[in-house]
Amino acid sequence: MFPESAAGYSYDECQVTADWLLSHTELRPLVGIVCGSGLGGLAKMLKDPVVFKYKDIPNFPQSTVHGHAGQLVFGTLNGKPCVCMQGRFHLYEGYPIQKITLPMRVFKLMGVETMIMTNAAGGLNQDYKVGDIMIIKDHINMPGFAGNNPLAGPNDERFGVRFPCMSDAYDRKLVQLAQEVGAELGFGDFLREGVYCVLAGPSFETIAECCMLHRLGADAVGMSTVHEVIVARHSGMRCFALSLISNRAVMDYDSQEKANHKEVLETGELRAEQLQKLVSSMVGRLEHNNNYAC
Ligand code: HPA
Repeated sequence: MFPESAAGYSYDECQVTADWLLSHTELRPLVGIVCGSGLGGLAKMLKDPVVFKYKDIPNFPQSTVHGHAGQLVFGTLNGKPCVCMQGRFHLYEGYPIQKITLPMRVFKLMGVETMIMTNAAGGLNQDYKVGDIMIIKDHINMPGFAGNNPLAGPNDERFGVRFPCMSDAYDRKLVQLAQEVGAELGFGDFLREGVYCVLAGPSFETIAECCMLHRLGADAVGMSTVHEVIVARHSGMRCFALSLISNRAVMDYDSQEKANHKEVLETGELRAEQLQKLVSSMVGRLEHNNNYAC
């Protein structure tokens, strides 16, 4: 038998949480948004917000990280019904990986079709600058290589298949839409497209680790998003994700730079407005009800 933590939440437990939320708001979200470190301002853009603290939601974990408010906000963004996680859960908080990704399944059961994730990340690509926004086109799942995948354990076919495809993890039409919207907004100088590598954290990477990740093909490194994308794709939601490059990964033994969480939050403040504009403009142009024109 599987240990309890490996089994995660049952379908019925996810349903209890989804039903509780749906019975406390009339909004029926089609878009789910996850705010990364320092990017919680996205949730403040929602009109007619209905807010639930994580501690009040049945089965929900608590957010323990500075810069994460720990609440779920329902409202409309550019006319589209959305639910927004203001604060997410990470492996380094000590949660089992299935607990971190519980909200994705709850969102699916509430009717969400499109997930938009944001995060702060360290730039490995030498062309990247602090403040760049990277559209994630693919990922490298390091904890997954070590056996820590959110889909490990028994598979419930009501969510999705045993062996889900990940070659289409990041919706190509949404990547294209982001490029178009970014160009229209005049963001061309700082909008990038690249590969995100997730690590478990909480310690930042050594110089040797950064060099290795760069050689493996990663453009940015962080501690989130990928687990959520895997679970969201497993249940058929389409995914789009953005990294805000909050610091440059140190890859040189002569460098005096040091990654730190304060810098991550400060960069969030610097570029938050543009990142929010990009996301809200994209959301305004999404089509739904399985008609994924975009
Ligand atoms: N490494 C890992 N995670 C991060 C970083 C980083 O440099 N910056 C923001 N999140």
